[in-house]
Amino acid sequence: MPTETVYGLAANALDAQAVVRVFAAKGRPTFDPLIVHVSDAAQAWTVAEPSPRATRLAAACWPGPLTLVLPRRAIVPDVVTSGLDTVGVRCPDHPLALALIRGAGVPLAAPSANLFGRISPTTAEHVREQLGDAVAVVLDGGPCRVGIESTVLLPDPSPIILRPGGLTRERLEEILNEQVAVADNAQRQGALPMASPGMLASHYAPRTPLTLVTGAFPDDTTAAVLSFRGDDLPTRHHAVEVLSGPGDLAEAATRLFAALRRLDGSGATVIHARGVPEEGLGLGINDRLRRAAGLG
Ligand code: TXA
Ligand code: MG
Repeated sequence: MPTETVYGLAANALDAQAVVRVFAAKGRPTFDPLIVHVSDAAQAWTVAEPSPRATRLAAACWPGPLTLVLPRRAIVPDVVTSGLDTVGVRCPDHPLALALIRGAGVPLAAPSANLFGRISPTTAEHVREQLGDAVAVVLDGGPCRVGIESTVLLPDPSPIILRPGGLTRERLEEILNEQVAVADNAQRQGALPMASPGMLASHYAPRTPLTLVTGAFPDDTTAAVLSFRGDDLPTRHHAVEVLSGPGDLAEAATRLFAALRRLDGSGATVIHARGVPEEGLGLGINDRLRRAAGLG
């Protein structure tokens, strides 16, 4: 199903056998928990226990790119949460996703609809390329507006971002009127049953090796270049993608995964990428680039 962030591979979150088939289709290890997608906050509280912060954030941000990690209710099968006593819930901001959840009448567990460890899909075509016959139906909702996955937030006992994403830390701080921390890798993994692939280095990876460049891009006719604004291109290169000429982080996020896919398919020997400013959506973009480079 399409969402505003990336496409998801959805199954009835209350049916353990259906959820197992999601893990199988992706080739994903079952120790990485799934996000449960709901059509509104009332449905979220049937699978997770709300807190004052959670209620406030849900009212302000849903539908939208925020996943709340909350104490789970017994109705949620173990396989969804990898046996954790918490569950990630979010209400996606996409009419087709909302119609699907409402039509199903149950919350839908959905990871990103990519093969395990690979780049998340932002178009229906990307899903068909990677999952093909492994899925029954691909609902085409057009290209994803946000382009990177949701922000995963543990709101209590004090708010900490486990995965930076489509909703900014600045916006969360504004809504909660308090500081929001960003977890380092050790803290991220502490929230999970064991080293979680979603949090690991070499996730969201293209097949072509990717390096993060801090100085000038090297002049190399065999290399692909991923530039933020396009004002730093080398004279020689094999292929180029510019994320946002005007330097708009929202546009850069929307274009990121498709640009990586194109460079990956360009036949270059290496992809040289430059990080973006570490603010707003830049946290999520830089996180994906670091993981694509295997740096975590
Ligand atoms: O935007 C998104 O979040 C997309 C769309 C489809 O909704 N979904 C997505 O799912 O990115 P996935 O499975 O690729 O990533 C879910 C992330 C993982 O990093 C997982 O470890 C974390 O959320 N997560 C899920 N449940 C959790 C929990 N109970 N505690 C801590 N982290 C959790
Ligand atoms: Mg994923």
